[in-house]
Amino acid sequence: MKTRDRLRIAMQKSGRLTEPALELLTRCGLTFRQSRDKLFCFGEGEPVDLLLVRDDDIPGLIAQGVCDLGIVGRNVLSEFQLTTGRDAEPLSELRPLGFGRCRLSIAVPQELDYREPAQLEGRRIATSYPGLLGEWLRTQGIAAGVVTLAGSVEIAPKLGTADAICDLVQSGGTLVANQLRETEVLLQSEAVLAGPLTLPVDERGDMLELLLKRLDGVIQVRE
Ligand code: PRP
Ligand code: ZN
Ligand code: MG
Repeated sequence: MKTRDRLRIAMQKSGRLTEPALELLTRCGLTFRQSRDKLFCFGEGEPVDLLLVRDDDIPGLIAQGVCDLGIVGRNVLSEFQLTTGRDAEPLSELRPLGFGRCRLSIAVPQELDYREPAQLEGRRIATSYPGLLGEWLRTQGIAAGVVTLAGSVEIAPKLGTADAICDLVQSGGTLVANQLRETEVLLQSEAVLAGPLTLPVDERGDMLELLLKRLDGVIQVRE
């Protein structure tokens, strides 16, 4: 890992986790000055900077040592662990952060008489989470086709490219809008603080320890 004297945290550039993540860091006493391109936030008080990126890129940036930590959904972190090779640096969930709660679920067309997972045998399931879905199918002993899509997974059944979907559900609004019904929950997710399994032992390690202490304080007060 490269040596750096400032801690660098990757977080979602724009999306559901952006605002609560910034709010949490602010409550931990961190303040930032945003760069003109809005991709970098320089820490003004403490030596902690932010990199604003696509959420799906966050685990990879930590694994490569480009960032020390990341604020990312457990779904994205778990998918990364399941789909990257064994030689990639293993990551760990350092803290659950208590916001961005959602679940990764199977949903089927409303008119389908769904009773049990076995009915998915031989069907095609569209998802952005082939790793997590594949693992669940294996534990259920079901052979199904996995159709990987980057987004708009919910319209796949209408387009005829899949029989069911596996995607994130928060309010359930997207499922309803696409006449789908949630049937199985594969993973309960929320934003987490992700980091490498072995933490840096230089100045960044000290700052990280301090940050974790403050985080625990803020999270405890909120609960
Ligand atoms: C997420 C997710 C679902 C939807 C669920 O998509 O992929 O489609 O939100 O939320 P709901 O249950 O409240 O409707 P998002 O809008 O974040 O965009 P993305 O799929 O392009 O990442
Ligand atoms: Zn995303
Ligand atoms: Mg979506």
